Amino acid sequence: MKVTTTISETREQIREWKKEGLTIGLVPTMGYLHEGHASLIEKCRQENDRVVVSVFVNPTQFGPNEDLEDYPRDFGRDSALCESIGADLIFHPEPEEMYDHACAFVNIHTLSENLCGKTRPIHFKGVCTVVAKLFNIVQPDNAYFGQKDAQQLAIIKKMVKDLNFDIRIVGCPIVREADGLAKSSRNTYLNEEERKAALCLHRAVLAGQEAISAGCESAQVLRAMEQVIEAEPLAKIDYISIVDALTMQPVEKVDRDVLTAMAVYIGKTRLIDNFSYEVGI
Ligand code: PAF
Repeated sequence: MKVTTTISETREQIREWKKEGLTIGLVPTMGYLHEGHASLIEKCRQENDRVVVSVFVNPTQFGPNEDLEDYPRDFGRDSALCESIGADLIFHPEPEEMYDHACAFVNIHTLSENLCGKTRPIHFKGVCTVVAKLFNIVQPDNAYFGQKDAQQLAIIKKMVKDLNFDIRIVGCPIVREADGLAKSSRNTYLNEEERKAALCLHRAVLAGQEAISAGCESAQVLRAMEQVIEAEPLAKIDYISIVDALTMQPVEKVDRDVLTAMAVYIGKTRLIDNFSYEVGI
């Protein structure tokens, strides 16, 4: 497995692989890899001749008061995991290599304004910009993203469509701990008491799924979920919302494919979780 830190050496390797007619899969990450990332890399391994993992804590997707400095990093562990799954290349640039006084950014309107975009107004501009840059550097045939970041996945699919990237975007299922907590690099911020409290997100997902399956309208589904979170003293709701799966706009009736998504603070740590519901029309 090769590790590159510059755009030029990465491009050189990609050019060689393309010359040989090999297919390339990309798994963009911010590192501190867990089983959720491992599932993306495994899927990428199954579907491509060459597997590229990017490990880059992208500064432009963090707001001024967010956790950029504290975001967990362990490149030694990340590279061992990538190697064990059979990745071929890790692209691990410094921020200066990626941005070098950059003035061009990618912004996806409407889809970015709701849900996480309300609390994190610059987040998706940073995500789209870095993902577009990675796409241009790696030129993958396929790129893999987790459904835990469901709004991010919808936005990236829209960016790929609108900007005509010739890349297949593959969404992979949420990976959970045995007790139901969705895997996240940010779970590491939780102390023992908060870790227990964080289970309310999964309980809310289950309550929401039950209410939707029973045919409830959005307001009732949301109420069922809010009650679960409100019963947990360490939890504070940032948002819980039911939106159209494509446009990310709130819906009153569950009469189309929807995403039910939430962000909840457990102490100071903001966690997200979601589930999709397809009406099958
Ligand atoms: O999902 C993430 O880890 C990041 O948002 C991504 C897609 C790697 C862009 O920095």
